[in-house]
Amino acid sequence: MDRALEAVVKVAVESVKSLGGGVVLGLGSGRTSAAFIKSLAAEEGPRIVEAVIPTSIQSEAAASEAGFRIGSLYNYESIEIYVDSFDQCNVSGDLVKGMGGALAREKLLMRLARSVLLIGTEEKLVEKLSIPVPLEVLSYAAPAIPRLLREKGWNVRVKTSEGKSGPVVTDNGNVLMLVEMGVVNDPPLVERELKMIPGVVEAGIFPNRGYKVIVGMRDGAVREIT
Ligand code: A5P
Repeated sequence: MDRALEAVVKVAVESVKSLGGGVVLGLGSGRTSAAFIKSLAAEEGPRIVEAVIPTSIQSEAAASEAGFRIGSLYNYESIEIYVDSFDQCNVSGDLVKGMGGALAREKLLMRLARSVLLIGTEEKLVEKLSIPVPLEVLSYAAPAIPRLLREKGWNVRVKTSEGKSGPVVTDNGNVLMLVEMGVVNDPPLVERELKMIPGVVEAGIFPNRGYKVIVGMRDGAVREIT
């Protein structure tokens, strides 16, 4: 683990430990979330955490292998803390997430959690969001989505898998696309516009809704964005 990642993972581990016990933890997906859950396990995490509610097959396997009990939205109504990373973050703490395809479940758990902690490393921090925005769409709608987005002046392409041939298919059985929209000046507006398009399940724009965002620097320092 590099110093920047190690520093933010430490912050997240300490945040969960400070909650004492009986914690219901929402867990994001990706490399950072996997590093976090492994480190939490090494710090008596399975004793502090009553259950982990994962956002993907990947995070379910990582939490389970690390010795955590897996919970679901059937048996836990509230989530005390949700921990995850992001693909890009602006200086106001708005985010692009979902390159790994877990955006729909991630946005749901972030809405349900009492607190949300997002950790990332400094190369993910920018003045304004500008990377392609992941879009989860119904596979039935996939052929029509490019036309619907072109009407708004946006180009979209299917995200192709690096493993299997063809598109990335999410854990929900939907297709993952990437919308090229250049600089995003108004994240809440863009989120609304994308979600208004029929066939769109979720958009990877996450305007900051009271989330705590912490960025790890190369020298091992941490910077609190929001
Ligand atoms: C998963 O769909 C994403 O939202 C991830 O949270 C995001 O891509 C960050 O992943 P890494 O920790 O692998 O950079």
